[in-house]
Amino acid sequence: MEWTREERYQSLESYPKVAYDALLEQTAASPYRQNFHIQPPTGLLNDPNGFAYFNGQYHLFYQWFPLGPVHGLKYWYHTVSDDLATFKNAGVAIRPDTEYDSHGAYSGSGIVVEDTLKLIYTGNHRTEDWERIPYQMVATMHKDGTITKDETPIINGPHAGFTDHFRDPKVWYENDCYYAVIGAQRFDETGTIVVYQSEDLKSWSFVSELKTEYTDFGYMWECPDYFELNGKDVLLFCPQGIDKYEDKYWNIYQSGYVLGSLNKATFEMTHGEFIELDHGFDFYAPQTTLDKDGNRILVGWMGLPDTGYPTDKEGWAHCLTIPRVLTIEDDKLRQRPVPSLQSLRGEVETAEGYATKKNIKLHPYEGTQYELIVDVLDNDSTEFYIELRVSKKESTMITYNKAERRVTLDRFDSGLLPEGVDGYSRSVVLDEALTQMQMFVDTSSIEIFLNDGEKVMTTRIFSSPEAKGIRTSTESGQVYFKFTKYELRGANE
Ligand code: FRU
Repeated sequence: MEWTREERYQSLESYPKVAYDALLEQTAASPYRQNFHIQPPTGLLNDPNGFAYFNGQYHLFYQWFPLGPVHGLKYWYHTVSDDLATFKNAGVAIRPDTEYDSHGAYSGSGIVVEDTLKLIYTGNHRTEDWERIPYQMVATMHKDGTITKDETPIINGPHAGFTDHFRDPKVWYENDCYYAVIGAQRFDETGTIVVYQSEDLKSWSFVSELKTEYTDFGYMWECPDYFELNGKDVLLFCPQGIDKYEDKYWNIYQSGYVLGSLNKATFEMTHGEFIELDHGFDFYAPQTTLDKDGNRILVGWMGLPDTGYPTDKEGWAHCLTIPRVLTIEDDKLRQRPVPSLQSLRGEVETAEGYATKKNIKLHPYEGTQYELIVDVLDNDSTEFYIELRVSKKESTMITYNKAERRVTLDRFDSGLLPEGVDGYSRSVVLDEALTQMQMFVDTSSIEIFLNDGEKVMTTRIFSSPEAKGIRTSTESGQVYFKFTKYELRGANE
């Protein structure tokens, strides 16, 4: 279905209640609804926004177009959590109801200031001639949960030298000063990040570009994030327009980081190469915050722009990833699922045994919603295979090639497939031989953490409810595995 401009920019407030109730019902009836992932009640979810610990709870917002599975008029939807495992829906937080955000309350971040949570985001305005003007705006969430918006933007339009692709402020506080990184496009249509600073969050001044060694790396960088972690500076960003190369950059847009050292006087960063945060099919626009104990937590959008998903037909699309704890160990970024997810674990089954050329079904192991830890205790195979969500016709296949240390996730036979996606598999080469896989399987997704967070592969799959089996086999030779499987209870409201 083609959406007209009027349909895309229709507001939730002007939409008839009965029609909205019908959307709620249609969405709830989808066989692909997730059980322990944040997903929209209707319509389309994209970037996580405003992620912060405030007033004794975690607040995680997301980009939301309520009225269908398209990128239309964006709101901020609000979820809250005590533990980062179970989230409750808390309704709309920011409405695109001023001139400055008339065409969308776009992505932004949250920062706690005294007893408020400041939400700093991009107001997307279009003129009558459909010219885009990005405004950086502030909304304030008070302790009682109410949200008020500042009347005027803190930054009007793009800075000189940059196009109207100027958005997604991420704010932090350091040395008595607030800083913001904003995703930008130079006039020569290359992507970059700019830095602003402010003493009071109200009056902001342009500092400079954040200068990296990537001076010509895609046409736009979305959703930047900067933080210090274990003594290193980490810069996350989402470059658009990078060509695929060997196993890299197969998705339409990329999401990754550079590690190094950022000079806060010149905003020059010395750093290593850009590394993708995730090696699956569906991951974009992540955002981080600190948890109450000071751990750096990341959540991503489990989806990508400009891609058709099977649930579009049901009027909704996408979910967020499970939260991950970031650390830097031996100069490498690791991502592990937040430990609180263990609270969702129910019944456990364990088994040890050999996988050989013969395809074996792990009986009674099966399901559509579980955590599966596979320890690779002894691997003499050339290549081994683990298949999940197996039915007579379906299978989602994970292959490990020992000589190449290469893990491949193949969803050719997973069931319904998203449209506009290059290829049916994604691969990553590990630094160390594969010793462990920790997999989180929900109704329509898999998140695979390899070697205790060395690499992650996140992917939506749209398999039928009968596709429950788990199978193992090898190309030749044998592998000794230990399997630990936990039932996971639902964590949605
Ligand atoms: C990234 C993005 C952001 C923008 C938002 C709009 O997915 O394009 O740059 O703020 O989505 O929903």
